[in-house]
Amino acid sequence: MLEPKADGADLRARRLRKSEAMRRMVRETRLHEDMLVAPVFVVEGNHVKEEIDGMPGVSRYSIDELPKHLEGLTGVGVRSVIFFGVPGSKDDVGTGAYSRDGVVPRTIEAVRPSFPELVLMADVCLCEYTSHGHCGVLSGNIVDNDRTLPLLARAAVEYARAGADVVAPSAMMDGQVSAIRKALAGSGMDETVVMGYSAKHASAFYKPFRSAAGSAPSFGDRRSYQMEPGNRREAMREIRQDIEEGADIVMVKPALAYLDVISEARRKFDVPLAAYNVSGEYSMLKAASMNGWLDEKQAVQEVLTGIRRAGADLIITYFAEQAAGWIREGW
Ligand code: PBG
Repeated sequence: MLEPKADGADLRARRLRKSEAMRRMVRETRLHEDMLVAPVFVVEGNHVKEEIDGMPGVSRYSIDELPKHLEGLTGVGVRSVIFFGVPGSKDDVGTGAYSRDGVVPRTIEAVRPSFPELVLMADVCLCEYTSHGHCGVLSGNIVDNDRTLPLLARAAVEYARAGADVVAPSAMMDGQVSAIRKALAGSGMDETVVMGYSAKHASAFYKPFRSAAGSAPSFGDRRSYQMEPGNRREAMREIRQDIEEGADIVMVKPALAYLDVISEARRKFDVPLAAYNVSGEYSMLKAASMNGWLDEKQAVQEVLTGIRRAGADLIITYFAEQAAGWIREGW
């Protein structure tokens, strides 16, 4: 028998766990579909909807197939998407990223009029568009920071001109936020939101994304520009720098192995904080769920709640549509 303490206090935490209503009443962290952002891969061509290797339930769509997919998302209450372009052809300077008739500008132009309320974000990077798969242009075997900046800035301006609400530089080039801010201002588009992939770590968990986008580097890896997984102080420095350069939203990526980074960023900074629950994190849960090793709905709820509890304001996740549906059913 649990004895009361000497002063008579009978400390029983289980009182508040007695019923579903009681547990919900004292629940500290809730998920809402408003905070979910759905990644969307767009390919060239027509009538394309092809499932991504390693990501069951996630497909790449051609522009003509997008309205149906976006209606599915908005139908369950998702209010924001982030586009990734998969071009028909690539070259060594990533031209497809910043040409006016590139896949992302055309996507945004096509979607904007029929989804006026949807927050349209566009990832800004060269890796999907370069033949070598690196996030910037090369000088020899080096990813050249300062020659890449104007190209990222051009891409951001094209996406904003096409109607993007948010441009999100993910190349991890130093000064990318400020280059983009200046270029947007110079083109009269200073109302465009910049979401910096501020603390983006060199992660094994991007692998399924790279097969989706065909963006795996053809030599070497991304460790000369993406962050060392062990570095939390550096993550704070990267975030601070992005805020100083004019980022409206900052990001920690990936999410699950970096919850402490999210948590510290939440305490240190007051701008909205995004967490990217990346492709490999989706694949892990999907694979285990499909094998019957995990209950998918419960596992996804727990993972997204954890990211939220750590301090993320918005969560970019391939589970957005499913999770929004479950939230509607009263998770
Ligand atoms: C582009 C980019 C990547 C991701 C988002 N933007 C790939 C990479 O850095 O290799 C990964 C997202 C995911 O894994 O879901 N640089």
